[in-house]
Amino acid sequence: MEIDKAREKEIVEQASKKQMFLEKTALQVLSKTPDFKKVLELLEKENVLMVDKATVEKKLELINERPKSEQPEVTVSNASFRPKAKDFEANIKILKEYDVTGQSCSEGKAADFVNYFRTKFDLLSGMLKKRHVLAPKPIKRLGGLARNEAVDLIGMVNKKWVTKNKGHIALQFEDTEARCVVLILKDDKPLTDMAEAIMPDDVLGIKGTKFTNDLVIAKEILLPDLPMRPQKTAERDICIASISDLHLGSKLFLEKEFHRFLDWINCRSNSKKEREKAGSIKYLMVVGDNVDGIGIYPKQFDELNIRDISQQYAEFSKLMLEIPDYIEIVICPGQHDAVRWADPQPAIPKEFLPDLYERDNIHFVGSPSWLEIEGLKVMLYHGGSLHDLIANVSFLKSDEPEKATIELLKKRDLMPAYGFRQPYVPEKKDYMVIKEEPDLFFLGDMHHSSCGNYRGTTVIHNGTWQGRTNYQVKLGHFPTPGIVPIINLKTRKVTQTDFLVEEKSHAVKA
Ligand SMILES: [Fe+2]
Repeated sequence: MEIDKAREKEIVEQASKKQMFLEKTALQVLSKTPDFKKVLELLEKENVLMVDKATVEKKLELINERPKSEQPEVTVSNASFRPKAKDFEANIKILKEYDVTGQSCSEGKAADFVNYFRTKFDLLSGMLKKRHVLAPKPIKRLGGLARNEAVDLIGMVNKKWVTKNKGHIALQFEDTEARCVVLILKDDKPLTDMAEAIMPDDVLGIKGTKFTNDLVIAKEILLPDLPMRPQKTAERDICIASISDLHLGSKLFLEKEFHRFLDWINCRSNSKKEREKAGSIKYLMVVGDNVDGIGIYPKQFDELNIRDISQQYAEFSKLMLEIPDYIEIVICPGQHDAVRWADPQPAIPKEFLPDLYERDNIHFVGSPSWLEIEGLKVMLYHGGSLHDLIANVSFLKSDEPEKATIELLKKRDLMPAYGFRQPYVPEKKDYMVIKEEPDLFFLGDMHHSSCGNYRGTTVIHNGTWQGRTNYQVKLGHFPTPGIVPIINLKTRKVTQTDFLVEEKSHAVKA
């Protein structure tokens, strides 16, 4: 009992030095573990102020999951080690037709918006028309049907609301010639659950019954969706890794941890297993918010230690140049980078990164963008539109971003709604519709590392290399920094390596 009290006192003192407040239940858990110092160190790096039991248990889980045999201690040079990826020719192609870089030609006029929505409707309705369960009629033909007659429609959602008297969900629904109201009855639980994720501008298929000439009762909702397909694999036993949200220039950039990653990817680990893992990486996706930028949000200037955008990119370049040149690096922008905030974003211009543009193994693409790597279709998108989706759909959360991304895949559209927080440029060609079926989909932005699988597509959300910001403290969001997902392209197995804790690294299944 005395020992427990002494330990509790020590924990409280240490937490107080780190300006953390421990809830009683968190203290009880911490006092029972010899790893309490490591837990507090991890929480300090994430700027956690209020510590509850669940947060402590999460960190303990992370610490305990690391088998002792996988401790790379990434400090030792292993000159004799030859990485496998060095002997592989790169097999990578950028699909430029899906990238706005060098092709932006919108004038932002009303006609551009009309054309944009028309193009989006044509693309998504074309996908729905291929569904054999749907035999759509134009909305204008409703007048020729009898009351209660079955009807299939394809349309775009203009507006969604809950009816005042009955509490049904109503959609104002239109095709290129006419509009009607589609009603989802409140007692139809599966359908109302599905309707929760419907946003304005979604293109849907409806199977229903006619009620009046301009009202249809929905029985089934069909999204453009991905077809069911097995996971496609590459022939060669090689890996792809990804990082995002370095936010270089921020006072919270985790420099020490990032250098640990650089040591590791240069195969300087003490552990043979880790050297082999790092040596199998042939491709690295860098998914935006590469620098913190200047003037991105109010009072950001106070949170920067590099207050010049060119200098931020110069430091970012130095780090990228430390990555072995046999690795193909693909870099896309995010909303903190020196390109327009609105989607689709073009690649970061050469003027900011002249040294990287000179390297043959470094490729700059827009967000979104598409690649073919080892025969697999790879999509990159920083993730700006996810905030609007998560804010408007009750079952989505920012600490499970892969679930929101799967909703985008079902919609086959990276622009879930126009007119919310994330701006979009109405380009003459649509870059936001998911025209192909991606095998791998890499994102960033949410600062939360997670993976998911949906109908043959693996969704990989990168965490960050930035500590917890004041903004995230206000939102109650806990980032997961320093984690690198690695995908073996032959087996499609996803593992993660964690560089946050100094002495250990671990691999876990996604
Ligand atoms: Fe970010």
